[in-house]
Amino acid sequence: MKNWMDDYKRKLCTAEEAVRHIKSGDRVGVTHATGEPVLLTDAMVANADAYRDVEIVHMVAMGKAGYCRPELAKNFRHNSLFLGGSTRKAIEEGRGDFTPVYFHKIPDLFRTTLHPNVALLHLSPPDDHGYCSFGVSVDYTKPMAEVADIRIAHINGNMPRTLGDSFIHVSRLDYIVEGDVPLIELAPPKISDVEQAIGKNCASLIEDGDTLQLGIGAIPDAVLLFLKEKKALGIHSEMFSDGVVELVEAGVIDNSRKNVHRGKSVAAFLMGTRRLYDYVHNNPEVQMMPVDYVNDPVVIARNDNLVSINSCVQVDLFGQVVSTSVGLRQISGVGGQVDFVRGANMGRNGRTIMAMPATSKGTISKIVPFIDEGAAVTTSRYDVNYVVTEYGVAQLQRKTLRQRARDLIAIAHPDFRDELAVEFEKRFHEAF
Ligand code: COA
Repeated sequence: MKNWMDDYKRKLCTAEEAVRHIKSGDRVGVTHATGEPVLLTDAMVANADAYRDVEIVHMVAMGKAGYCRPELAKNFRHNSLFLGGSTRKAIEEGRGDFTPVYFHKIPDLFRTTLHPNVALLHLSPPDDHGYCSFGVSVDYTKPMAEVADIRIAHINGNMPRTLGDSFIHVSRLDYIVEGDVPLIELAPPKISDVEQAIGKNCASLIEDGDTLQLGIGAIPDAVLLFLKEKKALGIHSEMFSDGVVELVEAGVIDNSRKNVHRGKSVAAFLMGTRRLYDYVHNNPEVQMMPVDYVNDPVVIARNDNLVSINSCVQVDLFGQVVSTSVGLRQISGVGGQVDFVRGANMGRNGRTIMAMPATSKGTISKIVPFIDEGAAVTTSRYDVNYVVTEYGVAQLQRKTLRQRARDLIAIAHPDFRDELAVEFEKRFHEAF
C-alpha cells in the first residue's frame, strides 16, 4: 500500500466531525455552483449553535444556503461574490454582504483580503498517485484551497475526474468525508420563441473556426441550437453546460482551429446534468483550469476569433450595460462578463455580444433612455460592441452616440420604440 493511502485513511471522518474544526469568527470559503459540497454545508448549518460570526464566502449560489436563514444571523454571515435565488434575500435584508469582484480576481481576493481559515471542497476520489480532481469547479476553488489554513474535502465517486490544472494531493487535505451522493444538476432550460430568435441573431455573428465563450441560461443554449451547420468551433469559456456536449458529438465543436490550446475545450467550471459530467470525466479534450488563468483578459485575448456571449438586464441609449442589478436590488454578480468582453475586444477579430430579450416579462423595455436609479453599469459604453435582441443586432463600437441610439431603438420592442424616439429627439435635436 502506498503512503498516501494510509494518510487518506487517517484523515477519514464524518461530515459532523469535520465541521467541528470550524471555529467562531472563521472565514469559510466554499466550492460553488454545481460543485457545492452539500454534505459539508448541510453539516455546518446543522452545527450552527456551535458558531458565532462565521463568514461564508462563495460565488454562484445553487444550493439551499441554509446559513442565510434569518434565525442563523448571529451564527453565520454570508459574503457573496455572485448572488443566487437562495442568497438574495439575506443581502437585501442586510444580513449578508456582496463584494463586487471580477471573476479572474477572486483567487487573488482569497490570497489577500479574504484569507480562508477553512476551505470546504468537493473532489473526485484519488487516482493511483493520490491526486483528487476538483471536477466541476476548479475556478477559484483550487487557488482558495491552496491558501486555506484547513482543507475539509468531501470525496464523491460521482464527481468527474476532470483533467487540466485541476488536482490536489491527498497529503494537502486535513479532513476527508466520503459519500457518493448525486451532484447538483442544472437541467437544460426550456427555450422560448423569443430566445430562439435571439439565438438565431447571435449565431449570425459566429463564423466557422471561431472560439466561443458562453454564459449560462436559455440564451446561450438557444445560440447553440443555431450552430449545427458551423464547422471547427472551439471553446474557451469560464463555464459550459450540456449544449456544448451535443455540438461536440455532432462534430461542430472540435477546437481544431484554436490558436491556444488547440484540440481542447478550456473552462473553469461546469453546470449541467449527468450527461455533461460523464462527458468530461477523464476526458483529455476538456482542460479545466483556475479562473485567474481562464478568465485573465490577457489570456482570453491570445485566442483569435473569440466570440463572447453574455446577457444583461438593461442597456441605455449610449450602450451602457447593466447586468447584475435591477435598480438598487443586486440580483447576481459580474462573473466573467467584463473579463471576456475586455479579452475579446483586445484579441484579433474578437466579437462581444450582449444578448437579451427586448423586454422583461413582455412589459418593461430593457432598452431605456436612462438606466434605473441605483443600478450599476457592468459593461461600459467603451467596451460594449454588439447588442442583440429578438428584433436584430445593433453594432455600437466606433459609432457616435446618435448612431448608437438609432441602432438600439431599432432593436427595441416595437411597443416602446415611439417613446424611445421621443427621448432621441429631445437629446439629439433631430427627428427620429
Ligand atoms: N427591469 C426590471 N426587472 C428586470 C429587468 C428589467 N429590465 N431585467 C430583468 N429583471 C428581473 C427579472 O424579472 C427577474 O426578476 P425575478 O427573479 O424577481 O423574476 C430578475 O431580474 C432576473 O432576470 P432574468 O431575465 O430571469 O435573468 P436571467 O436568469 O436570464 O439572467 C442576468 C440574466 C443578466 C441576470 C445574468 O445573465 C447575469 O447575471 N449576468 C451577469 C453575469 C455574467 O454575464 N456572467 C458571465 C457568464 S456566466
